[in-house]
Amino acid sequence: MKQQLTEINKRRTFGIISHPDAGKTTLTEKLLLFGGAIQKAGAVKSNKIKRGATSDFMEIERQRGISVATSVMAFEYKGKLINILDTPGHKDFAEDTYRTLTAVDSVIMVIDCVKGVEIQTERLMEVCRMRNTPVIVFVNKLDRDGKDPYDLLDEIEEKLLIKVRPLSWPINMGTHFKGVYKLYDNSLRLFRASARQLNEEDEELVIKDLSDSILDKAVGERDAEQLREDVELIESVYEPFDTMPYLAGNLAPVFFGSAINNFGVKELLDTFINIAPPPRSRPTDARIIEPTEPKFSGFVFKIHANLDPKHRDRIAFLRVCSGKFERNKFYQHIRLEKKLRFSNPTSFMAQKKNIINDAYPGDVVGLYDSGNFKIGDTLTEGEVFMFQGIPSFSPEIFKLLVNTDPMKSKQLDKGIKQLSDEGVVQLFRQQMGSKKIVGTVGELQFEVIQYRLQHEYKASCRFEPLPFYKACWLTADDPQKLADFCKRKSNYIATDKDDNPVFLAQTSWTLDVTRRDYPDIVFHETSEFKRQAKGNY
Ligand code: G4P
Repeated sequence: MKQQLTEINKRRTFGIISHPDAGKTTLTEKLLLFGGAIQKAGAVKSNKIKRGATSDFMEIERQRGISVATSVMAFEYKGKLINILDTPGHKDFAEDTYRTLTAVDSVIMVIDCVKGVEIQTERLMEVCRMRNTPVIVFVNKLDRDGKDPYDLLDEIEEKLLIKVRPLSWPINMGTHFKGVYKLYDNSLRLFRASARQLNEEDEELVIKDLSDSILDKAVGERDAEQLREDVELIESVYEPFDTMPYLAGNLAPVFFGSAINNFGVKELLDTFINIAPPPRSRPTDARIIEPTEPKFSGFVFKIHANLDPKHRDRIAFLRVCSGKFERNKFYQHIRLEKKLRFSNPTSFMAQKKNIINDAYPGDVVGLYDSGNFKIGDTLTEGEVFMFQGIPSFSPEIFKLLVNTDPMKSKQLDKGIKQLSDEGVVQLFRQQMGSKKIVGTVGELQFEVIQYRLQHEYKASCRFEPLPFYKACWLTADDPQKLADFCKRKSNYIATDKDDNPVFLAQTSWTLDVTRRDYPDIVFHETSEFKRQAKGNY
């Protein structure tokens, strides 16, 4: 028990999120450099799909390969074991990102100082807000002329609906960028554009009193004066930083820096390990699970198909939530009601996949799977509950799946089911399963599906557009009323992968009207409507 507590307190599991191009990959790489997980810059390849490369299947394969390798990056820093869970930046893979966020305890959000808060950032923040995930903001690219820092802070508060508290403050931007003043320990870090190495220590200047002339010497009189005014203003406008509202997801500390120049990253990391939460409790449909509980439990938040189509096995990513996971021990697969054990569980330490014997809350374990897992599956030592917070969101594009090779219909069925288990697509069925509707967040996924069905299952298909805009999951207190509704609206009713009924709305107007006309039916925006217990994550 004592060892478990020590292990839990050591762990910090988080995700870096941003709108594509804000600098997530660059920041990840610098953090890994600090952790000694990689030796030189450039080791973490951007896992984004190149702009305009939607038809480049090699690119898709490459992306899949890289994203397996960099899905989880673990390293040690100052006695803490840090797990970075990678999130795809591309909008078409947003659902994958949302699911990964169920497995983190906090996030670092990167914002490009030139572009400010972008649309994908807003969406990601909504997901964080749903779970009160603590957020640290890193305003990046200070070496470019960006928006005024005060305006940026206002924009973050307005668009992301979270209070902010700057913990560092920039002295100019772009070509005149001189460094950041650390508000939490009154020291100044001077910027050198060439500071790409890890030798930043020597550039630090401790300033006990801002009126000291060493400040003027360091940055020049004008900028020194400006900094004095800025600091005075900040300290009078903002309350001193408090970790409680941060941990509750209501206050985001803000850092300024330049990831590519490795500037401001160490401050971020050092503060992160001090304030970011260790593994937190998690809600299930039965009760809240505490990480300190002696018995093991965990859930699958991501599944990756093997890149070699000859091998059908997949890697399921399991987040350990409580107790201790042990190799070769039997665990209960709650949905399948069967016992499973794992002889080759892997860790993701320093990007090398190693077989591990045990794992603790906060860790992510890779499990080789021959088709037992779906996203959201729970493993326990026997107690029956399912982890919550891994909902399906409504797809944005719906298409009818048409088999173009009748000899291969079995392969097509199997393939599309597996892609749905992996979370690549959402599959809805109509007319007792004879009509299959595929829903995705982006067009790119349809190309991925077609390609993978062809290459991995030798099945061919085409897609016909359908005029739906949203899927809503349905419930009603009176099952008869729900059955009547489904009968009446049968053209717009389908079932999801778990046989739950969904309403496929053609426009927001029809959805509103139907809602009004059928007040006894509840239309849910996500598949997770059975939530009973609420956790603090
Ligand atoms: P992402 O994962 O969030 O999509 O962003 P990524 O790190 O790939 O960075 C996007 C672009 O922004 C990259 O340039 C990267 O070099 C640049 N960048 C990252 N941090 C900074 C910074 O602090 N200052 C400046 N000026 N640029 C930064 P690119 O030209 O798209 O790619 P590359 O050819 O440099 O790899």
